[in-house]
Amino acid sequence: MPGMNESLKPKMRPIRSFVLRQGRLTDAQERVLAERGASYFLDADAPWQSPWPQSTPLLLEIGFGNGAHLAHFAANHPDWGCIGAEVHRPGVGALLLQAEAAQLQNLRVLPADIVPWLRALPAAVFSLIVIQFPDPWPKKRHHKRRLIQVEFLQLLQRVLRPGGELQLATDWEPYAEHMLQTVESLPGWQNLAGAGNYAAAPENRIPTRFERRGQALGHRVFDLRFCTKPE
Ligand SMILES: C[S@@+](CC[C@H](N)C(=O)[O-])C[C@H]1O[C@@H](n2cnc3c(N)ncnc32)[C@H](O)[C@@H]1O
Repeated sequence: MPGMNESLKPKMRPIRSFVLRQGRLTDAQERVLAERGASYFLDADAPWQSPWPQSTPLLLEIGFGNGAHLAHFAANHPDWGCIGAEVHRPGVGALLLQAEAAQLQNLRVLPADIVPWLRALPAAVFSLIVIQFPDPWPKKRHHKRRLIQVEFLQLLQRVLRPGGELQLATDWEPYAEHMLQTVESLPGWQNLAGAGNYAAAPENRIPTRFERRGQALGHRVFDLRFCTKPE
């Protein structure tokens, strides 16, 4: 695969982090997907080319759900290019409705599985990667479906610019512990809160649907922030 780090190739196994529940699209989502999809969608099969000038810092949000955080970040950081990946079509429609209402120009969407796309990307593309409340897959036999695992972190490390940041949040404590241990077991990452510590919530984080769901269940929210060590 062009641009793929040779050392990652032999270890590549499929990561199936989601089960596609299509759900129903509202009329408004149907309309916005039909009318605005062409302006906002990235072609998952096309070679990477930033839609913005080369110096523009890029955010990647993976599994943006209904897009509340991504739309908020894009509106508040007009000098950033913001890219979101989500497989759940109603969520993509919900984001496009927000993008249309706010006339966001600095947003693009990959309406597809992030994993093959990440594998095909060149290195050092993003300044910030955000993954909020990824599916915790609580049953042990499903742990292999969790996004945060060694191979996926290696993909993220490769596409982050040196010194770039990874922000994670979860309300599932065993997953938070797994995230902390797994990232810290890998060379090349630095915990911005100090080794073994959870972080304060980053300024950009606003309550998402899944955070509210966790809070209603009485769950604590865990934030984790890492940066890639400059080479
Ligand atoms: C539990 S939801 C959290 C959504 C949102 N971040 C929030 O906090 O409300 C996780 C989302 O990740 C998406 N997802 C999981 N694996 C993915 C993948 N490989 N590529 C793109 N999206 C993915 C799912 O479709 C789901 O919408």
